Amino acid sequence: MRVLSGIQPTGRPHWGNYFGAIHQYIALQDAEQAFYFIANLHALTTVRDRDQLRQLSLDTAMDLLALGLNPDQATLFVQSDIPEVSELCWLLMTGTPLGLLERCHAYKDKKAKGLSADTGLFTYPVLQAADILLYDSDTVPVGEDQVQHIEVCRDIAGSFNHVYGEVFVIPKAKVLDQAARVPGTDGEKMSKSYGNTLELFAETKPQRKQIMRIVTDSRAMEDPKEPVGDVLFDLYALFATDAERAEMADLYNRGGFGYGEVKKALADVAERYFAEPRAQRAELAAQPEKVREILGDGAASARKKASEVLARVQEACGVK
Ligand code: ADP
Ligand code: TRP
Repeated sequence: MRVLSGIQPTGRPHWGNYFGAIHQYIALQDAEQAFYFIANLHALTTVRDRDQLRQLSLDTAMDLLALGLNPDQATLFVQSDIPEVSELCWLLMTGTPLGLLERCHAYKDKKAKGLSADTGLFTYPVLQAADILLYDSDTVPVGEDQVQHIEVCRDIAGSFNHVYGEVFVIPKAKVLDQAARVPGTDGEKMSKSYGNTLELFAETKPQRKQIMRIVTDSRAMEDPKEPVGDVLFDLYALFATDAERAEMADLYNRGGFGYGEVKKALADVAERYFAEPRAQRAELAAQPEKVREILGDGAASARKKASEVLARVQEACGVK
């Protein structure tokens, strides 16, 4: 079984990205043959500054390694280090109906807003299909928002197989646990686009300030309160041990506490939780060469598989 997923290097990771995605990817590396890549070609549809794109790509690799991605167990590489993916994307495009892509949400949403979309955004799902099919991936762990793209990939692979024979493995999406939907500092879903994020690798002092500023209701101190659904409690529950969570729930149910205490407890558990990854992250940042070497090794091993699959596809459609 090969598990594969791509992570766009479009910004600094936040708690939502971690609990909703990264944590779950890393958990899969033990059981399966895992391929994870930094989707810098996809990120080009939004990041148009070359220095920023290079930096974010390296940063994303450091983030994943610091959070526990083990390069001895999982293959970590940068998408553009495997040029085969661009050729496969073209071969797939020759058999992809326009209508299939016109229905895809990123393009459709942009058009609905009256904005002009470029071809990169329009064909984004085909490149994603190439990412998946190039490595004979069986399982693609993704958030709910990406399920449509995996369906498109399955359609493209199915039509190709129909025309040329059984060339591709048809992959399945593994939808990540959405119960892990993390609220942001304003109570809405935590997202870069809402400006309500708490970053994983932020400096502790400013992050404490950010936590202290989280807006709460104006409940009187003595009133009891339902814990679940309260932003502070829900965030606290992500990091706390079972005993700590039960104790905090009890405090809410009894009443008589101030939100300031909960905020302080939240900052404490979050710092404890990320202490080790933050230390690892700082160590990696001081050794970019080591990270580049890991990415180089990952690319070499991914490329071996990619060239084998691409040769099979070229043969099947008559360009070799
Ligand atoms: P953002 O909304 O900040 O731009 P992305 O769309 O880049 O985040 O998300 C990358 C991954 O992180 C996706 O798989 C998504 O499902 C997950 N994710 C993002 N925000 C949250 C959240 N608040 N709770 C749970 N998962 C999230
Ligand atoms: N489109 C995905 C996202 O925005 C990233 C991605 C690119 C991907 N290629 C992929 C995910 C292949 C899974 C498989 O999150």
